[in-house]
Amino acid sequence: MSYAIVYYSHFGNGKKIVERLAAQLKGEVKVLTLSEASPKAMPPADTYVFSAPAEAFSLHRGMKRFLKDLEGTNGRKCALVNTHASRKSRIPKMEELAAKKGMQKVAELDYQVTGDYRNGNGLPEGWEKKLDEFAGKI
Ligand SMILES: Cc1cc2nc3c(=O)[nH]c(=O)nc-3n(C[C@H](O)[C@H](O)[C@H](O)COP(=O)(O)O)c2cc1C
Repeated sequence: MSYAIVYYSHFGNGKKIVERLAAQLKGEVKVLTLSEASPKAMPPADTYVFSAPAEAFSLHRGMKRFLKDLEGTNGRKCALVNTHASRKSRIPKMEELAAKKGMQKVAELDYQVTGDYRNGNGLPEGWEKKLDEFAGKI
């Protein structure tokens, strides 16, 4: 299996998720930040993983733009990761945008970050187990 992970993380919580995920996955894994990746020239992969926080009452706008601009992903699998400080997950928005690009969601993961999220330490207790289950599905 091959994977390409594209992520944005402001405070480092999402980065922690992606780093652990990349270490868990077997096969070829490419990890790219949102600014390193190009939506019109995605590396070939069996499964694309997109990870971004909620910001400004929506999905992070850079990730929104990226998903809207994606090309060449028709028929591919995707897995979606979202962190959010409020209770509202932005996975549905990510899924809607991914579906418009012909991708099929195979797994999703979201965390409501806690008090220390601005220090990059906001992932809730037990986050590793939840992440490992997610990794097992993709
Ligand atoms: C500019 C800004 C706006 C934010 N707005 C929201 C919001 O509207 N809703 C929400 O649930 N979280 C909001 N957050 C909290 C982020 O979701 C949180 O910082 C993020 O999930 C932490 O992950 P990261 O460390 O990977 O960036 C906001 C954070 C920032 C920096």
